[in-house]
Amino acid sequence: MSRQKIVAGNWKMNKSLQDAKTLVEMITNQVNDFDEVTKIIIPPFPYLNAVGEQLASKENFFLGAQNCHTNASGAFTGEVSANMLSSVGCHYVLVGHSERRQYFKEKEADFISKIKEALKNNISPIFCIGETIHERKTDNHFKVITEQLTTVLKEFTVTEFSKFIIAYEPVWAIGTGETATAAQAQEMHAFIRGIITDIFDSAIAANVSILYGGSCNAQNAQELFACKDVDGGLIGGASLNADDFCKIIFSF
Ligand code: PGA
Repeated sequence: MSRQKIVAGNWKMNKSLQDAKTLVEMITNQVNDFDEVTKIIIPPFPYLNAVGEQLASKENFFLGAQNCHTNASGAFTGEVSANMLSSVGCHYVLVGHSERRQYFKEKEADFISKIKEALKNNISPIFCIGETIHERKTDNHFKVITEQLTTVLKEFTVTEFSKFIIAYEPVWAIGTGETATAAQAQEMHAFIRGIITDIFDSAIAANVSILYGGSCNAQNAQELFACKDVDGGLIGGASLNADDFCKIIFSF
């Protein structure tokens, strides 16, 4: 996968099926012929099939899932495997999101297993990393990001890593209305490319798409996306409104 402009909408645990379908229709009506941006819609599990059907004929729209299990199948009541996601047409899955880290106590070993399952099923991981406010205030943010990336990436080959998307999401910016400044985002994205250069090489680092996430919205997307190392956004709250999400897509 080469470096792309990407806008991904993570709906989290929101919307009814009917609202989901209406939202997708409103989004695709506005941006269907704008194919220079890869658009990824990430609805809750029960709507994947319906949303996937709506996106199937649309230009450069893809389906993503919010999570997958570490195992391929079996007695794991309530869980969903990467194989199942693939069978309903998912091309992407979020792994390492800060809400999974915080509320579900997921750790690096989980992320590695989940990504391996995803890749086996031809699903690209959107691997999320980010520091807390405490870590930034104590000047540990570069160290934390280095650890989060290195522990996971060293378990993968260059070929496997070529399927990854990275999302830098400072935890203090997620759902808070407080966005990283363009300068803070650019600084960290360039740093992330540096770490990927150290783990793999500079050509691989130059080729990976790195998204910014955390209160990215219709007002600030343009400034963030103008940064050299920011390839797009992982959007939470603002992806629930068609006009806002479309404005973000048109922000490159
Ligand atoms: P937010 O969420 O845009 O609502 O801050 C981003 C995310 O959690 O991916």
